[in-house]
Amino acid sequence: MSLKGRKVIIGLTGGIACYKVPYLVRYLVKDGAEVRVVMTEHATKFITPLTMETVSRHPVYYDMFADREYVSTQHIELAHWADLFVIAPATANVMAKMAHGICDDLLTTVICATGKPVMFAPAMNPGMWQNRVTQRNLQILKDLGYQFIGPAEGEMAEKQIGWGRMVEPLELFEAVKQFFAAGSKKKVLKGRNILVTAGPCREAIDPVRFISNRSSGKMGFAIAQAALDLGAHVTLVSGPTSLTPPAGADFTSVETTAQMHKAVADAFAKVDCLVMAAAPSDFTPRAVAKHKIKRGTTKLELTLEPTADILKDIARLKKPRQIVIGFALETEHEEEHARKKLVEKRLDMIVVNNPRNRGAAFEHDTNQVTLIRPRRKPERWPLMSKEEVARRLTDEVAVMLAGKKG
Ligand SMILES: Cc1cc2nc3c(=O)[nH]c(=O)nc-3n(C[C@H](O)[C@H](O)[C@H](O)COP(=O)(O)O)c2cc1C
Repeated sequence: MSLKGRKVIIGLTGGIACYKVPYLVRYLVKDGAEVRVVMTEHATKFITPLTMETVSRHPVYYDMFADREYVSTQHIELAHWADLFVIAPATANVMAKMAHGICDDLLTTVICATGKPVMFAPAMNPGMWQNRVTQRNLQILKDLGYQFIGPAEGEMAEKQIGWGRMVEPLELFEAVKQFFAAGSKKKVLKGRNILVTAGPCREAIDPVRFISNRSSGKMGFAIAQAALDLGAHVTLVSGPTSLTPPAGADFTSVETTAQMHKAVADAFAKVDCLVMAAAPSDFTPRAVAKHKIKRGTTKLELTLEPTADILKDIARLKKPRQIVIGFALETEHEEEHARKKLVEKRLDMIVVNNPRNRGAAFEHDTNQVTLIRPRRKPERWPLMSKEEVARRLTDEVAVMLAGKKG
């Protein structure tokens, strides 16, 4: 689906990531979108309106009291004109202002005047992002229904590493495409709370080393996106991945299996459905060395002990209205092992994937899965993209939840 005829306002605020935004505008324009650009005064210090004007092929708006015709209503006209607003990069300042209704320039006034969806792509130094006041503003904005894409983790312009980097222009473009594609889907999960886990967990050996697995998180992130597209409220709990959480999901980042266990247990009571697509560790080192273990010892033995079984523990808390879906990764007798787990852990469904099948499971963009459900024959799905698996699975969740309601 192209973006032909879609109207997007790009709002730039004063961060170094402004230099990436012309790429986003070019992708949008090339795909058929109509783009208008609004800049804060500080954004114009980082990139010229002329550049934005050239890539968007339209005059750029940045002056609240500009000496133009119909200037008195330009903020209202822009607010009505757009189908979607993308604030990229979004400074800590613009987040703070929007969280508190401050409209002291054209961009904040236009955002305040619009009833259209607004996505923020934050970009700032990790210290600014982690600052409690920024986190509080983030929560206020999320509660008000504003969407967030990123920030990502990585190296900043000033060489510091951490969370705060703006997601790449191509990812922002994909999020815009996703937004419009989702708009045309029936919201069969509206009013439902879906909890999805994704990615690997890491178990520390010493301050710099850990045990982990090859999970990329792609399957869980795709499920979270598909559930959002069907109108669900989605909580995504993920171990470390290189992926950007879908806009609109409540995202909790964890590292260890114990942290994932706690995050899932904390959120479970309120959800209608839990999909455990993460790959937590089954074992963790009994002791974590305080300092980096030095080379030189001829033999290093690690004692591992089992981690808490998240699915098993959560299944005990399950209410009749709730659905719990597990993912299983088996390398032999997969269907037999999965059915055993299904019964033991009182699950409603297990999605089995076998990494030995070509294009399936870890790190691939495709997956080949088999559904195991109580009293039903295994249902083998062909190899397909993880997005397609996610779409079909969430359609299945909608049917299962509708059955519970009756
Ligand atoms: C070189 C430079 C880079 C900056 N980068 C950022 C940034 O990435 N994120 C941010 O929140 N503020 C950043 N700032 C600070 C903002 O520009 C400042 O808070 C400004 O008031 C934001 O105004 P605006 O939100 O109206 O555009 C930067 C400032 C300078 C001088």
